[in-house]
Amino acid sequence: MTFDSPRQRLDTDALTLAYFRVPWDSDIFGFPVAQITEMQIAQPAHADLAPFMDWLEREHIRLASCRLTESRLDESMLLERFGFRFVEMVLHPHLADLQAYPCTHQGLRVELAEVADLTAIEEIAAHAFGYERFHADPRLDRAAADRRYRVWVRNSHVHPTQKLYKICEGADLVAFFVTEDKPDGLCYWHLTAVSPAFHGRGYGKRVWREMLHFHRGEGRTQIGTTIAARNTPVLNLYASLNFRFLPPEMTLHWLRNA
Ligand SMILES: CC(C)(COP(=O)(O)OP(=O)(O)OC[C@H]1O[C@@H](n2cnc3c(N)ncnc32)[C@H](O)[C@@H]1OP(=O)(O)O)[C@@H](O)C(=O)NCCC(=O)NCCS
Repeated sequence: MTFDSPRQRLDTDALTLAYFRVPWDSDIFGFPVAQITEMQIAQPAHADLAPFMDWLEREHIRLASCRLTESRLDESMLLERFGFRFVEMVLHPHLADLQAYPCTHQGLRVELAEVADLTAIEEIAAHAFGYERFHADPRLDRAAADRRYRVWVRNSHVHPTQKLYKICEGADLVAFFVTEDKPDGLCYWHLTAVSPAFHGRGYGKRVWREMLHFHRGEGRTQIGTTIAARNTPVLNLYASLNFRFLPPEMTLHWLRNA
């Protein structure tokens, strides 16, 4: 699996756009998938997406996505004019001063996952998620969405910067986290889940506190993550742990022949 793909740009006085073909999602869905990574409109009356739509055509892209800060309505309205549809609002829980956060050891073990752990962690990933954009978009195959999280776990194990942790109690694997160390002491949580077999028994709070205790011990100073606004269980969890929320973003999807 390659994580690289050539970045494309469209730079005019009216519109700046950066985008690429997403190799991992293309593999999972079995058709070419693209993502817009940057979009800025300077002149709404003159912004034209047609060159980008031509690129989608040439590359046979069937699914394209774009995530925008919630205030970027000129951009979302232009996307909608070209057939993109709103699928979700995402929130960014953030903990600004981890070193001052009062978290204690919860009696759980946090360890880097080994090859022998992958099958069990993939099994959790394939069944734990249901609120994210690929599950929520009714035009997409839910089995492919499940596969996406399964494959992400496997890829994170060999990824150059992401780390895959298992969280265990005794012999039980109760949760996993995919994390990435970023500049300024930030630890970013990409994927986090309690095994469905352990839901609703207080493990969420214990696991999250254990991870905060773990990262504090590593000297990290901030925690950041992204959740779907419709994911009320995890939203309540972050609220109960006293996280704050950064400005939300919206995600739009374009599907060929939708
Ligand atoms: C969110 C998740 C971690 C909660 O785990 P859990 O072990 O069931 O949670 P707990 O029993 O410890 O509950 C912790 C808090 O979560 C919230 N919560 C859990 N289930 C909830 C539900 N069904 N509805 C609303 N809030 C809920 C509550 O605030 C709860 O605390 P409270 O009961 O004191 O109010 C778990 O559902 C999960 O792993 N979900 C799938 C993965 C996921 O969505 N990850 C986040 C995005 S990457």
